[in-house]
Amino acid sequence: MALYSEKVMDHFRNPRNVGVLEDANGVGEVGNAKCGDIMKMYLKIEDDVVQDVKFETFGCGSAIASSSMATELIKGQPVSEVKKLTNQAVAEALDGLPAHKMHCSVLAEEAIQAALDDYQKRTGKTIP
Ligand code: FES
Repeated sequence: MALYSEKVMDHFRNPRNVGVLEDANGVGEVGNAKCGDIMKMYLKIEDDVVQDVKFETFGCGSAIASSSMATELIKGQPVSEVKKLTNQAVAEALDGLPAHKMHCSVLAEEAIQAALDDYQKRTGKTIP
């Protein structure tokens, strides 16, 4: 069996939603001290829904694939659902990641949570 699923390879080679969102109202940046990889998520939230999302990831292929898949999973979703997104859900959507690469999907979960926190701070809103 190949180490990486076709979905991982696809999202690594053709990542979705890469870039900066100038009018984002929630931005989260996280890093993994061990591998040095960094992920930044930009959310544009309106009417409690993630209307748009972009990311910048300076990291390994699994981190890029995880962030790309995570943006697809949360785009158009209510923030209350986005808040529940786990790294396992991201990894499952990618048809799995090797055990030693699961921490890469954790970055995606953490970056989104950090962006939601930032949104709450900026707006004074509380996501249920
Ligand atoms: Fe660290 Fe992938 S090796 S995020």
